[in-house]
Amino acid sequence: MLNRQRNISMLGDGFYSRVSLGPKAVIDHCEPLVLRALDQLTRHDRPLAVSDFGAADGGTSLNLMRSVVKRSKQNFPDRPVTVTYTDLPDADFTSLFRNVAEGTRTEDSYLKRYSDVFVYGSGTSFYQQIFPAESLDLAFSASAMHYLSAKPCTIVDHIHSVGAHRDEFREYQAQAIRDWTTILLNRSAELASGGMLVMANFCIDDHGQYLGNTGNENLFENYNLLWRDLNRDQVITDGEYRNTAFQQHYKTVDEFIEPLIDQANPVFQSGLRLVSAKSEIVKCPFRTAFKQGSLNPEQFATEFVNTHRSWTSTTFRAGLDETRSEEDKNAILDELYRRFHSLVLDNPVGHAKDLIHLYLVGRKV
Ligand SMILES: C[S@@+](CC[C@H](N)C(=O)[O-])C[C@H]1O[C@@H](n2cnc3c(N)ncnc32)[C@H](O)[C@@H]1O
Repeated sequence: MLNRQRNISMLGDGFYSRVSLGPKAVIDHCEPLVLRALDQLTRHDRPLAVSDFGAADGGTSLNLMRSVVKRSKQNFPDRPVTVTYTDLPDADFTSLFRNVAEGTRTEDSYLKRYSDVFVYGSGTSFYQQIFPAESLDLAFSASAMHYLSAKPCTIVDHIHSVGAHRDEFREYQAQAIRDWTTILLNRSAELASGGMLVMANFCIDDHGQYLGNTGNENLFENYNLLWRDLNRDQVITDGEYRNTAFQQHYKTVDEFIEPLIDQANPVFQSGLRLVSAKSEIVKCPFRTAFKQGSLNPEQFATEFVNTHRSWTSTTFRAGLDETRSEEDKNAILDELYRRFHSLVLDNPVGHAKDLIHLYLVGRKV
């Protein structure tokens, strides 16, 4: 089944990883957990199989995957290693294969160093089983599991479930909980016994913090205000405003761990168990650079807006009426991000895209 979700994809041509210093920092932060997981793997006679689920263009996980391959070869010198990158069919697979083969501006390719390390790509949704049963040793994923399999309802006066009315919020929450079960059951089927799951998932932490909401300006409130302003200024229609919502939901820590600790849950019964879970914040690297004086206000505003343009623009584009020309849609998006840029420039100190993740480790028994 081809699962085309053009409202979800990151921007292409390698733009995503070029501007995604925050997500890369989150992935690098996973390294100790991932290496520990590799050290705990059960020996099998077949190749060691690793996957990065929702990898986008692969640039943000290149450093981690280099460490994964190195440790795998140290631990199991005779086992070939396969690394499979998965994402939706419309993802930037061309940049992915280039990044992995040639490296990025900041990271070397690991592929050149080994003769028995093999890289593959799968354009299959993580809502399906992607690998044969019990064939995977390490299932890794970062910043991807908040994407839902479908939008459960319209959000009447917001663009994200964090600002939805109670009934709408509940529908998103219920969808996210069902979807998380589906994701885990598929990973559980794929993992070999003794296989490990390591994920950094956007979450709502125990203080109510989530991406872009850590005490100052709220990223999604600002996007909602700007999108509404475009509606008020008759740049977009009422229908387009109502039609726009991120196909995402941020789960709480309890919602994430429940299927892995509740003995009655089908995920627990399938053999997937919680090893550890901890929510942590990775500070917005652009705000840090701005505070340290290595970015001036104009540079900060540009970098800050670019970093979320890379993952927000397909959602805003999808909200626009299909009869609009591509030129018209591009002009509307340019105006949205121009306004966000001005907002940041007016008050640079208030903005930060701090990243709140649950760092989750599981094991298939
Ligand atoms: C924010 S990006 C994260 C990319 C990379 N993992 C990182 O941390 O930098 C989220 C990725 O998840 C992918 N994604 C969303 N829903 C998906 C699905 N159902 N199946 C596979 N990938 C999906 C998106 O296309 C996107 O590339």
